[in-house]
Amino acid sequence: MPECRQTEEVRLKARRVREMFGAIAGRYDLLNHLLSAGIDRRWRKACAAEVGKRLDRRNPRILDVGCGTGDLAMAFPGPARVAGCDFCGPMLEIGRNKIKDAGRSGQISFLAADALMLPFTDNCFDAVVSAFVLRNLASREQGLAEMRRVLRPGGILGILDFSMPTAPVLGAVYRFYFLRVLPGLGRQISGVDGPYRYLPQSVGSFPGPAELSRQIEIAGFKSVRYRLLTGGIAVLLLGIAE
Ligand SMILES: C[S@@+](CC[C@H](N)C(=O)[O-])C[C@H]1O[C@@H](n2cnc3c(N)ncnc32)[C@H](O)[C@@H]1O
Repeated sequence: MPECRQTEEVRLKARRVREMFGAIAGRYDLLNHLLSAGIDRRWRKACAAEVGKRLDRRNPRILDVGCGTGDLAMAFPGPARVAGCDFCGPMLEIGRNKIKDAGRSGQISFLAADALMLPFTDNCFDAVVSAFVLRNLASREQGLAEMRRVLRPGGILGILDFSMPTAPVLGAVYRFYFLRVLPGLGRQISGVDGPYRYLPQSVGSFPGPAELSRQIEIAGFKSVRYRLLTGGIAVLLLGIAE
């Protein structure tokens, strides 16, 4: 396992992100489903399906990095054994209750861990997935390097995140919603000001799918490709560990 000597800047960003998700954890699922009109469920299902069909083992071991309240981990059906990790305690607690209520504690487990220093040995997962996390990492390069390290050669990477639709009409309507409507709605429902102002900012400064694919390749993945979801509001990136 790597030793990661975190700089002050990395530590500060990590603390800000952890506190932000801690503050909205109780309403995170509700907000996700409401603000996306339920489409976020379809995106996670698409990610699980695309990764699932590339897996060549009956009982694959899957890691969900930044699992939050566990919805992506729970999108993987039965025989897969899924570990989820996140550094925000309140998000994990909600996720643990959800898997217990769903009777899936035998298949899915969650642990507290930092995506930049994963507490797993090299090459130990058949797939690594991560939804809406990469944007929040203090070092995307380090996060991708860690995902590559814990994947076995030939293992599958599946990354889901927001993007910006490029079609003129959908793009304009979505931009208006995302930049003007969502921050206020998010604030009212969550009762917290920062996170839903941060969301459009973090998406705005996030690279587009082509650049992201290049960064994934540099991190040690081949056959990297992406699929735009819902007209490009979200993007699913897939790669194979070299
Ligand atoms: C937008 S939420 C996504 C949660 C979940 N993947 C989903 O699909 O709903 C981002 C999550 O990433 C976690 N996160 C951000 N940076 C992290 C890091 N360095 N290590 C571990 N978790 C991190 C946050 O705590 C939060 O739960």
